Amino acid sequence: MLKEMERTVKNDPVVAIAGVTGAVGAEFIATMDRRGFPVRKLKALASARSAGKTIDFRGERIVIEELNEHSFDGVNIALFSAGSGISKKFAPIAVKAGAVVVDNSSAFRMDPNVPLVIPEINAGRIRDHKGIIANPNCAAITALVPLWPIHRQNRIKRIIIATYQAASGAGAAAMEELVESTRANLDCKICTPKVMPHPYAFNLFNHNTAVDPETGYNDEETKVIKETRKIFEDDNIAVGVTCVRVPVLRAHCEAITFECEKPITEAEVRSILATAPGVKIVDDRAKNYFPMPIDASGQDDVLVGRIRKDLSDASGHSISMFVAADQLLKGAALNAIQIAELLPERVMA
Ligand SMILES: NC(=O)c1ccc[n+]([C@@H]2O[C@H](COP(=O)([O-])OP(=O)(O)OC[C@H]3O[C@@H](n4cnc5c(N)ncnc54)[C@H](OP(=O)(O)O)[C@@H]3O)[C@@H](O)[C@H]2O)c1
Repeated sequence: MLKEMERTVKNDPVVAIAGVTGAVGAEFIATMDRRGFPVRKLKALASARSAGKTIDFRGERIVIEELNEHSFDGVNIALFSAGSGISKKFAPIAVKAGAVVVDNSSAFRMDPNVPLVIPEINAGRIRDHKGIIANPNCAAITALVPLWPIHRQNRIKRIIIATYQAASGAGAAAMEELVESTRANLDCKICTPKVMPHPYAFNLFNHNTAVDPETGYNDEETKVIKETRKIFEDDNIAVGVTCVRVPVLRAHCEAITFECEKPITEAEVRSILATAPGVKIVDDRAKNYFPMPIDASGQDDVLVGRIRKDLSDASGHSISMFVAADQLLKGAALNAIQIAELLPERVMA
């Protein structure tokens, strides 16, 4: 028995987390622990600001190291969540050192050589990787997990999404700004925004990414449109999206309307989603109980409710619904760990 345990541990991968001190980094640690992800050794990487601090992992105190060119020597799986600039620079170095990278940033998502994976949809694409696998945008994951099983049965031609995105999607500093500015507001004090472009407490605003002066779309919206087409492998799917930041600490919500090729009923959608992986129906009209960020936070599923016929489409091809998901989990850390669980590198030869 002891021999068996020793063999198993010896075969477990060395895992590095780049961005371990961030909002996603913390969820990598918690998710690996919760799901019993095998780890022989964990390398905790962040900026020089965090070097020398410690994190706890499975009862062990691990010293955080500054990310550098040698950080990935001997690493089998590298999880990146330190921003796209860091991914662009260090992911190729990690691959060269022999690691498989699962990247949370947008750096490689639209690279034709990089699989963009939501395991419930296209786990099969993982095997095409050439060292890097990209985790999709969190707003895209939240919409696509429930839309995919419908799309498979009755092709979706057109999707219209409005997002209600939480502070946590912009990282730990944005969450802090929301808490601090809310406290300041209640105390009738002035709090000048430092992380977000506008006052966050008791307010909402266009997503804090750059707006294309030509199209009027912000970067987040462009990501959702392009990534939907890549993940669904359908260049003709029409996607219209409006991304908005709301003063919610954690978990994104989205109002989604979709139009199918053939007529579709509310009952059909309910029946498809009842058994869809990664989806939980929360849809109680009598109690007015539907998906909410507080229920989505800290759990793995995309909550789906308010499933109803889109009355603006008399042809009966369109359905509206409202979804909520913890974008630090399914939108980031959980999705990446699910990908890592499917890698052969998870168990070393
Ligand atoms: N938040 C989400 O829901 C979400 C969802 C999907 C994807 N993502 C992506 O995941 C990445 C991280 O997001 P986050 O929300 O976790 O951000 P965050 O809370 O701001 O954390 C950023 C992390 O990156 C590290 N970092 C920054 N500069 C670095 C450098 N020069 N060298 C090494 N490490 C550095 C930070 O380390 P220090 O603490 O030492 O500064 C920290 O660990 C981003 O690319 C983001 O787009 C986030």
